[in-house]
Amino acid sequence: MIAFRQLALQRGTRRLIEGADLMLHEGHKVGIVGANGAGKSSLFALIRGELGADAGSVEIAGGKRIAHMAQEVSAIERALVEFVLDGDVALRQAEQALAAAQAAGEHDREAALHGQIEALDGYTARARAEQLLAGLGFAQRDLYRPLADFSGGWRMRVGLARTLFTPSEILLLDEPTNHLDLDALLWLEQWLTRYPGTLMLISHDRDFLDAVCDHILHIDQARLTLYRGNYSAFERARAERQAQQQAEFEKQQARRAEIERFVERFRAKATKARQAQSRLKMLERMETIAAARADSPFRFELPCADKISSPLLSLDRADLGYPEARILEGVNVSILPGERIGLLGPNGAGKSTLIKTLIGELSPQAGARVPGENLVVGYFAQHQLEHLDLGATPFTHVQRLSPTASDQSIRDFLGGFGFRGDDVFGDVSRFSGGEKARLALSLVAWEKPNLLLLDEPPTTSTWICAKRWPRPWPLTKARW
Ligand SMILES: Nc1ncnc2c1ncn2[C@@H]1O[C@H](COP(=O)(O)OP(=O)(O)OP(=O)(O)O)[C@@H](O)[C@H]1O
Ligand SMILES: [Mg+2]
Repeated sequence: MIAFRQLALQRGTRRLIEGADLMLHEGHKVGIVGANGAGKSSLFALIRGELGADAGSVEIAGGKRIAHMAQEVSAIERALVEFVLDGDVALRQAEQALAAAQAAGEHDREAALHGQIEALDGYTARARAEQLLAGLGFAQRDLYRPLADFSGGWRMRVGLARTLFTPSEILLLDEPTNHLDLDALLWLEQWLTRYPGTLMLISHDRDFLDAVCDHILHIDQARLTLYRGNYSAFERARAERQAQQQAEFEKQQARRAEIERFVERFRAKATKARQAQSRLKMLERMETIAAARADSPFRFELPCADKISSPLLSLDRADLGYPEARILEGVNVSILPGERIGLLGPNGAGKSTLIKTLIGELSPQAGARVPGENLVVGYFAQHQLEHLDLGATPFTHVQRLSPTASDQSIRDFLGGFGFRGDDVFGDVSRFSGGEKARLALSLVAWEKPNLLLLDEPPTTSTWICAKRWPRPWPLTKARW
């Protein structure tokens, strides 16, 4: 059980949580939702004791082992399976003690340690670790390769496998689906629904939340509200709550107006002055009901270059890849203005190689890349967030692209991407994941591309989160 008691949290000048008083019971699967920067990741840091509360407390009773996912998994030489097994620290310690006992010939101790390892499910551990990795998309032949062989996205999957492997009563997952393809995502859904402990899951993917969660914790304007049911139930309940709040607000406004009219009319009359006074007091005592605030989903437009070419870009009998490895052969593509092209293929088929060639980062090994005269490429990929300058501000990021742009035009532009007022001078190192994604996308938009290439855009925000096929891809809303 996790209890928040009169909890308050502030970061920098922002109040993220205020007066939170609620309880999450054992075995609950709680989805954490809220706008980018609302404080979801900070809430996890609080539960893990990385951040201290500004007031109140977080109490954890019952099973207290918390498993959580690292933000990054380093490219070390450790084999995938071993790295996952390392997640069970108690088991690793018992194994080491056993090896020491065996070396020293301490037979009694050996027997005791065998018992201990048995109790820790140690003899099924390797098989379980391998199953987790397989479920998350690793081929059997990869299981004993070192982490260093894999890209950042794949290492994150290994990190996720390790987190799931770590024995826990509480599991904290912060946007675990960002690096997953559909197969791995469906597998994770299944796994999580069977997890016996308490799950807290931050995600912007409503289908995923619907499949996994039985409660939703909403962070909105520093208030925490717990809803029973999955995400769809939460949306309905919230809509009802807002309608009710709006109705009460309107009723109160009408009542106020009525009292004010009464006071106005009778204040001057000696016989009624007293009554008028008491009504005035009543008015003061009335607790103000706020008007329901409709969420204004973040909207943005990608401005398009003034000129286009047709085709925008072609590959002509191109062989793609690297000197030591040809990945695709004889590629002929022409990209025309206005087309919407989805790129499908199994892992390793060469999707990223194709995109890198299209943006001009990689030259074809043979054949040609023919850019249209007015081609302006906008490129947006998961790893671009890592290229943001953490020591800079949104303002300086744009200014570096266009040193002669006026301050006001930069501020106006960034305002359109939700960086208002002093936010444009905020420190990028302190941005939440979604805020960083928004900034990276705004930098693409600033260049006014007429060809937009998205390589697994980060789904850290509701506004860019692709609904799972066959639902529509909301990016078609953006004009490019
Ligand atoms: N060290 C810090 N100092 C000041 N402000 C910070 C610091 N770290 C984070 N913040 C701010 O706290 C707010 C909450 O950040 P947090 O990462 O918890 O948001 P989030 O809800 O997880 O958002 P997202 O959906 O984008 O991941 C953000 O506005 C962020 O800029
Ligand atoms: Mg976050």
